[in-house]
Amino acid sequence: MSFVVVIVTLVLNSMHFLPASQYLIAETDRLALLAFKNKISDPLGALSSWNESSHCSNWTGITCSRRHPSRVAVLELTSMSLRGPISPYIGNLSFLQDLAMSLNHFTGEITQELGRLFRLQVLRLEDNTLTVKIPKNITLCKNLQVIELGGNKLVGGIPTELGSLSKLQRLALWRNPLGGTIPVSLSNLSALHSLILRSNHLHGYIPSELGQLSRLKHFQVADNDLSGTIPTQLFNISSISAIAVTSNELHESIPNNIGITLPNLETFIIGMNKFSGTLPTSISNLSRLSALDVSSNQFTGPVPPNLGLSFVNLEKNNLGGAEVDDLSFFDSLANCSHMEKLSITYNNLSGKLPGSIANLSITLTELYMGENNIFGDIPTGIENLVSLNGLGMESNLLNGSIPVSIGKLPNLIRRYNSAKPWQLWQTE
Ligand SMILES: *[C@@H]1O[C@H](CO)[C@@H](O)[C@H](O)[C@H]1NC(C)=O
Ligand SMILES: *[C@@H]1O[C@H](CO)[C@@H](O)[C@H](O)[C@H]1NC(C)=O
Ligand SMILES: *[C@@H]1O[C@H](CO)[C@@H](O)[C@H](O)[C@H]1NC(C)=O
Ligand SMILES: *[C@@H]1O[C@H](CO)[C@@H](O)[C@H](O)[C@H]1NC(C)=O
Ligand SMILES: *[C@@H]1O[C@H](CO)[C@@H](O)[C@H](O)[C@H]1NC(C)=O
Ligand SMILES: *[C@@H]1O[C@H](CO)[C@@H](O)[C@H](O)[C@H]1NC(C)=O
Ligand SMILES: *[C@@H]1O[C@H](CO)[C@@H](O)[C@H](O)[C@H]1NC(C)=O
Ligand SMILES: *[C@@H]1O[C@H](CO)[C@@H](O)[C@H](O)[C@H]1NC(C)=O
Ligand SMILES: *[C@@H]1O[C@H](CO)[C@@H](O)[C@H](O)[C@H]1NC(C)=O
Ligand SMILES: *[C@@H]1O[C@H](CO)[C@@H](O)[C@H](O)[C@H]1NC(C)=O
Ligand SMILES: *[C@@H]1O[C@H](CO)[C@@H](O)[C@H](O)[C@H]1NC(C)=O
Repeated sequence: MSFVVVIVTLVLNSMHFLPASQYLIAETDRLALLAFKNKISDPLGALSSWNESSHCSNWTGITCSRRHPSRVAVLELTSMSLRGPISPYIGNLSFLQDLAMSLNHFTGEITQELGRLFRLQVLRLEDNTLTVKIPKNITLCKNLQVIELGGNKLVGGIPTELGSLSKLQRLALWRNPLGGTIPVSLSNLSALHSLILRSNHLHGYIPSELGQLSRLKHFQVADNDLSGTIPTQLFNISSISAIAVTSNELHESIPNNIGITLPNLETFIIGMNKFSGTLPTSISNLSRLSALDVSSNQFTGPVPPNLGLSFVNLEKNNLGGAEVDDLSFFDSLANCSHMEKLSITYNNLSGKLPGSIANLSITLTELYMGENNIFGDIPTGIENLVSLNGLGMESNLLNGSIPVSIGKLPNLIRRYNSAKPWQLWQTE
């Protein structure tokens, strides 16, 4: 009796208590990985461990499945200088959940065989040199949560079929030459929190149906050829924290109640379009907002008070022209402690340069006010702004002398250009 118990225990041990590292990689997976390796060059020898030894833990970048310890679950080969095509054999790694091969030099097409990886949850191939179209077959991977294909040379359009990936949380196709329009079907991606389509050649309208994406946080379509408006439905998605639509052909005004409907907004970047109307004063109610760029549009009216954000770019509009002082908003910024950049250059702002600019945050590094109708003299208190390294006041109606105190600004360096368009959308 006790003999049987010992045998049973041994069998159980060998089945359940063997560390994953002791398992041989299943033959199909081993062949697939070696076929993949055979097609590419590996100048740094990053995959030199992929040799006769075929224990799961020995091969760089491989993690085997916990429940099926001989099968590859994760292939993580980020930034290894690998160069060449992605072998169709990769489609044989049928237990793969996470395929991450960003920041390499993979070329050619994304193999249709990926469509066989029905367990795949994460597909990261950004910053490679992949060409041809996004394969429709990846929409067969119904468990996909993350698709990262930015920074490649993918052409064609965004496949309509992507709208069927009901678990997709992040769709990032930035910096490709993708054409066509934004498919309405993406509005069916009910789990989506990031839609990152910046720097493509997309045209047409932003579908109003995207207003159904009730979990959306990041909406980035900057640097395309989109026309029409930002659909009002998008301004109703209270979860949104970033809107970046810079450099398109969008027009219309911004809803007055944005400060109420988008309480989580942190980044609002809509420069280089044809937006018009006034800047909603409710913007100052957005307590999380830290970056606002409405530059190079056709906004008119006053600068709203209390825009004490880290980055505020209002340049190249037609703000100002009121009977009262256009610069009174400076007074409201006195106690904002974390401003870094402020530009009001190239507007129609008129008024005496207020002494309260001396009370701007000491964290302010850039302050541009050129090309307006600002008069009076330069307040000596400007010496308080000790972090300033860029200061622009050209083409105004300032008179008097340049205060000696400007010479006390320790970080000021010569600058000829006003703030360049800030490309903050690249941060997420
Ligand atoms: C095979 O891989 C092991 C690591 O798993 C490494 O120590 C060994 O040098 C490799 N052999 C060759 C011939 O590259
Ligand atoms: C492979 O891993 C096993 C277990 O971790 C180890 O005993 C063996 O020496 C490794 N083989 C090589 C070639 O590194
Ligand atoms: C693996 O994939 C390749 C190419 O897609 C195929 O030719 C091969 O038959 C597949 N099966 C195995 C077991 O390697
Ligand atoms: C890709 O999908 C098409 C159907 O949409 C199918 O005919 C084809 O076999 C698939 N290719 C692979 C490699 O899975
Ligand atoms: C969204 O999904 C539903 C249900 O699958 C489908 O009937 C509808 O056509 C889809 N909408 C779009 C725009 O693709
Ligand atoms: C936005 O939401 C409010 C309240 O839920 C609703 O009354 C309004 O119709 C919505 N607007 C749009 C454009 O969806
Ligand atoms: C917006 O902020 C102002 C004060 O700056 C306040 O009076 C107003 O009630 C706020 N509105 C909302 C909707 O919170
Ligand atoms: C600029 O502002 C002045 C008032 O300060 C106004 O008379 C003028 O029409 C404005 N110019 C433009 C182009 O709006
Ligand atoms: C700034 O803070 C001081 C002291 O707390 C206060 O007296 C002043 O009213 C504040 N100014 C603004 C514009 O909030
Ligand atoms: C700057 O702030 C201080 C303290 O909050 C205040 O006493 C002073 O009047 C302000 N200066 C200007 C020019 O607004
Ligand atoms: C600057 O211009 C104002 C009128 O805008 C004038 O009253 C003042 O005397 C001028 N100051 C100097 C130093 O020219």
